[in-house]
Amino acid sequence: VRTVRLAVIPGDGIGPEVVAEATKVLEAVTTGSDVSFEQTPFSLGAARYLETGDVLTDADLDAIKAHDAILLGAVGGVPGDPRLAGANIERGLLLKLRFELDHYVNLRPTVLHPNVVSPLANPGEVDFVVVREGTEGPYVGNGGAIRQGTPHEVANEVSVNTAYGVERVVRFAFVQAAARRNKLTLVHKTNVLVFAGSLWKRTVDAVASEFPDVAVDYLHVDAATIFLVTDPARFDVIVTDNLFGDILTDLAGAISGGIGLAASGNINPDGRYPSMFEPVHGSAPDIAGKGLADPTAAILSVALLLRHLGEADAATRVERAVAADLAARGAERRSTAEIGDAVVARLTED
Ligand code: NAD
Ligand code: IPM
Ligand code: MN
Repeated sequence: VRTVRLAVIPGDGIGPEVVAEATKVLEAVTTGSDVSFEQTPFSLGAARYLETGDVLTDADLDAIKAHDAILLGAVGGVPGDPRLAGANIERGLLLKLRFELDHYVNLRPTVLHPNVVSPLANPGEVDFVVVREGTEGPYVGNGGAIRQGTPHEVANEVSVNTAYGVERVVRFAFVQAAARRNKLTLVHKTNVLVFAGSLWKRTVDAVASEFPDVAVDYLHVDAATIFLVTDPARFDVIVTDNLFGDILTDLAGAISGGIGLAASGNINPDGRYPSMFEPVHGSAPDIAGKGLADPTAAILSVALLLRHLGEADAATRVERAVAADLAARGAERRSTAEIGDAVVARLTED
């Protein structure tokens, strides 16, 4: 039996609620199989910060690095909580993990499952994946303000794009496209962000020559939001920068049945560091503690985790169980735990 060391970060708000269901499914799908998961829980997030003043210590980071993979629920306190004013949990914890563990691919698949209601009247066959760059762009924290608080304040937030960083994520996206429907769409804003846009465009053009079967397309990000609503079936693989990818994937979640279904993987393809799997959504303070959160995104993130670890059969079983549950779900309103239990029950069907 192969043992996988899994760091589990339930986090804040609905994070622990959805992670409980995701680990339930993980245990059910691996029981009696040739892989077993040894879980280490990490208490990190706004709650931990309020208790101890720590966001992510070096010791936490070292301990997490000693694992094979990470499952994360969501982090972030209640917006506006004055006690969190001095901390930036999202930057100090979530982004720090993505940067330190070199998660340069943020993989966010979108599938509109049969019987799932989309807010779009005529969505067609929606099945695409956003390959979002994960370690650069405006997320790097390369900013600053002068004359803060005065009428003459200037606030800069500089997007960093390196040839190395863009090339590796673009290459990953081409490999994805070649294994899917051979279509890749670069999304950027080359008409305004001319330097970064030029680097992304030239990189895509250069890598494209190695993938002659992949049809390449380009959209400005504003136009991409139009097509995601009017014709999402046109997309196969979208490759884009960190910030555009963040925005597009909440929209992608919404059109495919809700953010409660959207899974993601923060991947270090080199395998040097553990990859981290998490729902696209946040800690949802508005519904936390009520058993209302949909754990499907977290459960589908477990499927991505299993596939990443080479456990394709288990991954497919989880995805099929979720698809069967979604198909049967209809309009009924179920609790977080009821959905987790239903997915576990579906697992044993095949
Ligand atoms: P959010 O994703 O937490 O919530 C947006 C809306 O979607 C809310 O109405 C919420 O109730 C709903 N929603 C989210 N997940 C759901 C689920 N599983 N089932 C049903 N409904 C769900 O985004 P937000 O409100 O912008 O952010 C809240 C906090 O979470 C902030 O502190 C933010 O920084 C943080 N955040 C963290 C992550 C993460 O940890 N990966 C991601 C996004 C936001
Ligand atoms: C996400 C989140 C994060 C992001 C925030 C919480 C830092 O919105 O995972 O999509 O912007 O990447
Ligand atoms: Mn986001």
